[in-house]
Amino acid sequence: MNTFAGKVALVTGGSSGIGRATAIKFGERGARVVVAARRERESKETVDMIKKAGGEAMFVQTDVRIASQVENMVNQTVKEYGRLDIAFNNAGVGGIMARMIRTTEEIFDEVVDTNFKGVWLSMKYEIPVMLKQGGGVIINNASIAGVSTAERLSVYSGSKHAIVAISNAAATEYGRDNIRVVAICPGWIKTRMTEELRAQKDADAIIQSSVPLKRMGEPEEVAEMVIWLASDAASYVSGGAFVVSGGMGI
Ligand SMILES: NC(=O)c1ccc[n+]([C@@H]2O[C@H](COP(=O)([O-])OP(=O)(O)OC[C@H]3O[C@@H](n4cnc5c(N)ncnc54)[C@H](OP(=O)(O)O)[C@@H]3O)[C@@H](O)[C@H]2O)c1
Repeated sequence: MNTFAGKVALVTGGSSGIGRATAIKFGERGARVVVAARRERESKETVDMIKKAGGEAMFVQTDVRIASQVENMVNQTVKEYGRLDIAFNNAGVGGIMARMIRTTEEIFDEVVDTNFKGVWLSMKYEIPVMLKQGGGVIINNASIAGVSTAERLSVYSGSKHAIVAISNAAATEYGRDNIRVVAICPGWIKTRMTEELRAQKDADAIIQSSVPLKRMGEPEEVAEMVIWLASDAASYVSGGAFVVSGGMGI
């Protein structure tokens, strides 16, 4: 299963959840993996998991809201591994669920800076490396809330719609340079981000009634889609928002 032998994959938000599951799958399939996030211990755990599975990986501590750190993330990738073939821009926060008029400016800034600005900054520094190399693949993690919406989700949903839009813009601008760009749109996935929902007394009932497949997804089920989109099997896929939601929100 050496689909990505010789390739270098960068995963932002690789310290947990969907990012960790995807980083491990890239490592298992032969890519050298760069794990980027703020938390050192958790990110190093991901690196260890990849190494245990026989892969090669390193950690670059990064806050995707800060341009100099994102620039450093890409520079370190190229310095250590010589290239950048695949970027999974996955780092994101949920903020708090609140009605629009109760959402604070602080929450707005945190959510938009992490989710939208973080993806923009990541692509801003990743794309020049890919241009130099003659191509690459970028997968941006939006959400089912990036193609639909719900009550008390306005800012998160807005930030995720922006990710779908900027992914399509990048696919349009850089397709001729052999850079494919797509967005993915997960539904409810069992990660830190949905801990609160899962802790609710009526969580099962909510999930059963909202998700046609009647369950939450596993991070690995999202990772499988990312792996396919990053592979040559998806060589004619560029632009678009790929839903992996168990049928929710469509
Ligand atoms: N779980 C779901 O139901 C669901 C559904 C749709 C979309 N998503 C999206 O999936 C992505 C991953 O989330 P998850 O569900 O796997 O939850 P998670 O386990 O909480 O993962 C979030 C990741 O983002 C990183 N992150 C947050 N802020 C960051 C920052 N400023 N700089 C760098 N990294 C940052 C976190 O690392 P550090 O804290 O270590 O920095 C962590 O690795 C997010 O973009 C989320 O919006 C999740």
